[in-house]
Amino acid sequence: MKLTDIRRDYTLGGLRRKNLKENPVDQFNLWLEQAIEAELTDPTAMTVATVDENGQPYQRIVLLKSLDDQGFVFYTNLGSRKALHLQDNNKISLHFPWHPLERQVHVTGVAEKLTAAENFKYFTSRPKGSQLAAIASKQSSRISARGILEGKFLELKKKFSDGEIPMPSFWGGYRIKVESIEFWQGGANRLHDRFIYTRVGDAQQWEIERLAP
Ligand SMILES: Cc1cc2nc3c(=O)[nH]c(=O)nc-3n(C[C@H](O)[C@H](O)[C@H](O)COP(=O)(O)O)c2cc1C
Repeated sequence: MKLTDIRRDYTLGGLRRKNLKENPVDQFNLWLEQAIEAELTDPTAMTVATVDENGQPYQRIVLLKSLDDQGFVFYTNLGSRKALHLQDNNKISLHFPWHPLERQVHVTGVAEKLTAAENFKYFTSRPKGSQLAAIASKQSSRISARGILEGKFLELKKKFSDGEIPMPSFWGGYRIKVESIEFWQGGANRLHDRFIYTRVGDAQQWEIERLAP
């Protein structure tokens, strides 16, 4: 099979301006609900793009943990590569690839750190193993062997065997304040439907424009 022979048609349906919700968060929530109902693998997984100090883009998947008019929220290690990028340049892009629904959503915006109270609320809701791993792993640092990580994990497991696990100061979340959101629905003959919402001013007002596929 040649790679050039791998293709498929997109036939699930179109997207029309009259069917779009005026607020992109409502539109996103509708599509996310449909992705969950369709039992897609990791429906909340999104690719997050940041750039380093040389303008080199990097991407990685993280899980969306909440969304409202204030923005999209994810959690990570605050010393990680992505966090270092965001320290210098808080412009960010998110991408949701919902292939089985022939859809993708693309977000641009700026990332702001969550408050310690918000971090704490989510941290304490996580399974203990995830809490310990967050402390054990200095995310994105070079390590010489997996055993070092596992040793650290076991040490912490013993240390906090009967008590609360303290939230590390180097762990937390970001809220992405949206500047634009594009909704893409595949169409027959590559005539896909694309609509981009762009924020007008600082309020919850959005301009909606169709983009050529
Ligand atoms: C399905 C999936 C979900 C993930 N969720 C998260 C997450 O919520 N937070 C996180 O920090 N890393 C998550 N990761 C790991 C990241 O992709 C990445 O390896 C890590 O955050 C380090 O990225 P960085 O070195 O660019 O900062 C996930 C990976 C996958 C494949």
